[in-house]
Amino acid sequence: MDVFNPATGEKVAAVARGDARDVDLAVAASKRALPSWRDVRPAERGRVLTRMAALIRAHAGELGELEREETGKPPTQVAIEMENTAQYFEFYGGLVNALQGETIDLGAGYHSYTRREPFGVVATILPWNLPLNQAGRAIAPALASGNTVVAKPSEVTSTTLLRLARMAVEQCGLPPGVLNVVTGTGPEVGAALVEHRDVRKVAFTGSVRGGREVARVAAERLIPLTLELGGKSPDVVFADADLVQAVPGALRGFVFNAGQACVAGTRVLVERSIHDAFVEAMAGAMRNLKIGSGPDASVGPMTTRQQYDKVREYFDVAQEEGAVAAVGGNLPDATELQGGWYVTPTLYTGVTNKMRIAREEIFGPVACVIPFDGEDEAVAIANDCDFGLAAGIWTRDLARAHRVAARLEAGQIYVNEYMAGGVETPLGGYKLSGYGREKGIEALYNYTQVKCVTVRL
Ligand code: NAI
Ligand code: MG
Repeated sequence: MDVFNPATGEKVAAVARGDARDVDLAVAASKRALPSWRDVRPAERGRVLTRMAALIRAHAGELGELEREETGKPPTQVAIEMENTAQYFEFYGGLVNALQGETIDLGAGYHSYTRREPFGVVATILPWNLPLNQAGRAIAPALASGNTVVAKPSEVTSTTLLRLARMAVEQCGLPPGVLNVVTGTGPEVGAALVEHRDVRKVAFTGSVRGGREVARVAAERLIPLTLELGGKSPDVVFADADLVQAVPGALRGFVFNAGQACVAGTRVLVERSIHDAFVEAMAGAMRNLKIGSGPDASVGPMTTRQQYDKVREYFDVAQEEGAVAAVGGNLPDATELQGGWYVTPTLYTGVTNKMRIAREEIFGPVACVIPFDGEDEAVAIANDCDFGLAAGIWTRDLARAHRVAARLEAGQIYVNEYMAGGVETPLGGYKLSGYGREKGIEALYNYTQVKCVTVRL
């Protein structure tokens, strides 16, 4: 499969197109390696994962450059992702002993206890938006809890995970077969993995369509599944918010990684009394963004040609729906950006929550501003959405912040800092955004099953 640099549109690499036979080999290797990994003292697994964290930090420059070649991301963006990836291995490497069972009192005649056991071979199907970061998010907790893993990276961003898996075996003492990587397409490698009889659990990150296809097969096989799908997350700015923080904060919420983030805050709900001032300040901040893939750039290209086409289609949809582009709604015209898959960061006003641009995930640096009057209407608009991954709240009134946080239908809520949190904070969807949880101690639980043992004394 050809791999392209989105900053230039040029081919930079070719990656093997695996198929069902490769999946068979990888799953068999994973199954063979399971006892050696599952049955050791957890702290030993933790040491390997901690070494992987150190290795990622030591090679962050090299891994980051690899990722840059196939994503065109600015260096500042990949640096964040490499550090975050290291933190997943560090966090779960330290957390391995938090997996404990319980004793259950049945009276003097019995001894009853639970064990948290791994599923066995786990498949992780990964997206292209934050390639190594999403891989670490899924793989580190799966390995920490004693599973072995077959990972399928996105067909357009395979190289960093291939490199990490090799280095983990060669330099960190990860036993061969514990982590396998099969490159290839979703319908070929991804589907074969989900269908494989020895795969006992699947974690999928990607589109709603892909998630549904995987869920159908998982339902037939009755295997557990974690789905981390898309979002159309509201970012609610109340009139009493500190706009000095809320404007750049909300901006980062939808332009981080050029908007190719599942939690992106793309519906900016603004209390009517500050609507015009907010839009003006936001438009000003957006005109200062630097589009490109160099060290001084803040907004990179779309990672896939398909994604570039999709965002441009939504520019047309917005126009047809009568939205007003306060900024953007088009392609950048700078000559050095031609050939790359760049779009201009865009802010739409005159938007109602019924419009397609307010309901469908665009997955680019594009936000809609929607005015509201009062807390109840803010919550109603925020929740009038098929998705429920994340939501932001900006206010100086902390009682209101907690009140609104409790009413929002989303798995992760940020107050006065969009995307506040870290590898420690659980993430997952309400509604179409999926089910199961990643990150935090929750992810460890999601990669284990509970066994209860009861003894008659
Ligand atoms: P996708 O869902 O097709 O790809 C995600 C992963 O699933 C890839 O590794 C792909 O090869 C695999 N896959 C696809 N179909 C599969 C199947 N039937 N069985 C097993 N594996 C399968 O996503 P795509 O087409 O790359 O992006 C489309 C849209 O999805 C984006 O525009 C965005 O809206 C959303 N998306 C959301 C992400 C998130 O973080 N939640 C990440 C990437 C995309
Ligand atoms: Mg697809």
